[in-house]
Amino acid sequence: MNAQTADQLIRMTYVSKATFTLISGQKEGYNRNIINILTTSRRQNRKNKLVGALYFGNNYFFQCLEGTQQHIDALYAKLEKDERHTELKVLSLEPIEKFAFSSWEMKYAAIDQEVPSFLKSYGLDKFDPYHFTPEMTAELISILQKASEGLADHQLKN
Ligand SMILES: Cc1cc2nc3c(=O)[nH]c(=O)nc-3n(C[C@H](O)[C@H](O)[C@H](O)COP(=O)(O)O)c2cc1C
Repeated sequence: MNAQTADQLIRMTYVSKATFTLISGQKEGYNRNIINILTTSRRQNRKNKLVGALYFGNNYFFQCLEGTQQHIDALYAKLEKDERHTELKVLSLEPIEKFAFSSWEMKYAAIDQEVPSFLKSYGLDKFDPYHFTPEMTAELISILQKASEGLADHQLKN
């Protein structure tokens, strides 16, 4: 990898399956795994100049990450070994000119309201991002960008 490639800004979106489940009715902000993932992500991403957003629905993670190729590759290697999720699948990988998530070390996107109508517009009723088309992935990324923050640091219960 030459220096120019390593410094290229990249947006990577992947999906995975959580290996844990939320207790019925449990809010994400009270789930120890979610709290720990967000706390670590926000601390480390600030250090590694990574930004992005995370959505958790139907026990799947959908995460969009932006940063240099080098930092994204290093994080992906860690993500692959993380036992809190499995079956990682990269849905999109594209060079970008500038950050779309520049304000968020890791936004926990509050899009539970938007997701049902998004799915409905494609004739689907279950959130299963493994079967997303490139068009659906791009649309969900754009929904993530517009979303509000669902779990700010002060909402994470310790
Ligand atoms: C769904 C999911 C998303 C994650 N997102 C990030 C992230 O954006 N940044 C990050 O540093 N770690 C993230 N992690 C945690 C990493 O897998 C890893 O545990 C963490 O970076 C600590 O690495 P270290 O042990 O080398 O310090 C995520 C983990 C999961 C399960």
